[in-house]
Amino acid sequence: MTVTQVSSEVLAVHGGSPVRETLLPYGRQSVDESDIQAVVETLRSDWLTTGPKVLEFEEAMAAWVGAKYAVSFSSGTAALHAAAFAAGLQPGDEAITSPLTFAATANCVLYQGATPVFADVLEDTLNLDPELAAARITSRTKAILPVDYAGHPANLDSILRLAEKHGLTVIEDACHALGAEYRGRRVGSVAHMTVFSFHPVKHLTTGEGGMVTTDNPAFAETLRRFRNHGISSDARQRQSAGQWHYEMVLLGFNYRLTDIACALGLQQMKKLERNLARRRQIAARYAAELDNMHGVLIPKTRADVNPAWHLYPIRLGLTKLSSGRGEIFRALRAENIGVNVHYIPVHRHPYYRERFGYKGGEYPVAEAAYERLISLPMFHGMTDADIEDVVHALVKVLAHFEK
Ligand SMILES: Cc1ncc(COP(=O)(O)O)c(C=O)c1O
Repeated sequence: MTVTQVSSEVLAVHGGSPVRETLLPYGRQSVDESDIQAVVETLRSDWLTTGPKVLEFEEAMAAWVGAKYAVSFSSGTAALHAAAFAAGLQPGDEAITSPLTFAATANCVLYQGATPVFADVLEDTLNLDPELAAARITSRTKAILPVDYAGHPANLDSILRLAEKHGLTVIEDACHALGAEYRGRRVGSVAHMTVFSFHPVKHLTTGEGGMVTTDNPAFAETLRRFRNHGISSDARQRQSAGQWHYEMVLLGFNYRLTDIACALGLQQMKKLERNLARRRQIAARYAAELDNMHGVLIPKTRADVNPAWHLYPIRLGLTKLSSGRGEIFRALRAENIGVNVHYIPVHRHPYYRERFGYKGGEYPVAEAAYERLISLPMFHGMTDADIEDVVHALVKVLAHFEK
């Protein structure tokens, strides 16, 4: 079909036939028979929680990212909370982060009674702008939380230099970026602590789950205690030592990831490199098809990184289009393309507005990007035909709204 033919099709939102008969989601997991078998084996074993699979998964992940330690958690959010605790955040402290992220990145600072302070993002990558972050450092700042938006690593060297100068801890929110590379190193081996998520739309899944990687033994020990009520040993260690005594040394939570989940994670890890390669292939296909499309700005990749492509967020060139993001979003959904938006800037959520008095306009780059962002479907199980459907729907919808 030619572009002219596609652009004369009646939009599904106006009663025409949709590009696809069924909805293509923006993200989804791939679980195969080997994953199911791994879970079933663990269900038949002696350990359902904190058993051998937890340690095995943590060791495999630490080795894979190139960090000394990896500590698993029941979610990426729990992992962020633990990292905020390990960084010593407490009431009166501040931590600087990006407004263009999932609320959990800033919420973990609030969990500790500290204050999240936002600094705007860079126009090209939509990652935390190190210069604006530097301008927000005060005597109360204790941590910086850069976010690897969409899987593109943040400017980690600049942020680490800032941290060194001011004695801060860098907690990298890499929930989008498992497998991304920064200046030749895998994300997870660069920041003081790096946080991953294993939610089903991510590069590998454990259902819910998360991990913190670090080279710092003191952080690793605190993270392990924090996820287990603040207790200094786990049940398996006590059982193998043949003793019952344990001590609670800090106020922690039950944030443990189960052996069942870790068995799934270990099996999923075997497919991680293949899945990353597929995501990179999909991103390359999108870039080739969409780079010169009227009204579309594709995500920018800096030369010193290899992104992991959790998301593929395009920005609409609204000055070239006769309608706003909302109408285009609805038209693409009607074509059965499961587009999404990442993210409503955190300070624009009612909770943050009411608690901190944000009025809008404080972070103009993030806010302007938000008005134009649409995430296209991106998951390793997508077929070439799925990619063609997305491109077909975009050509069809954007031609209709071309000025
Ligand atoms: C940037 C970011 N941080 C944190 C999280 C929280 O991870 P989880 O859903 O595993 O709690 C997410 C989840 O999507 C995320 O995208």
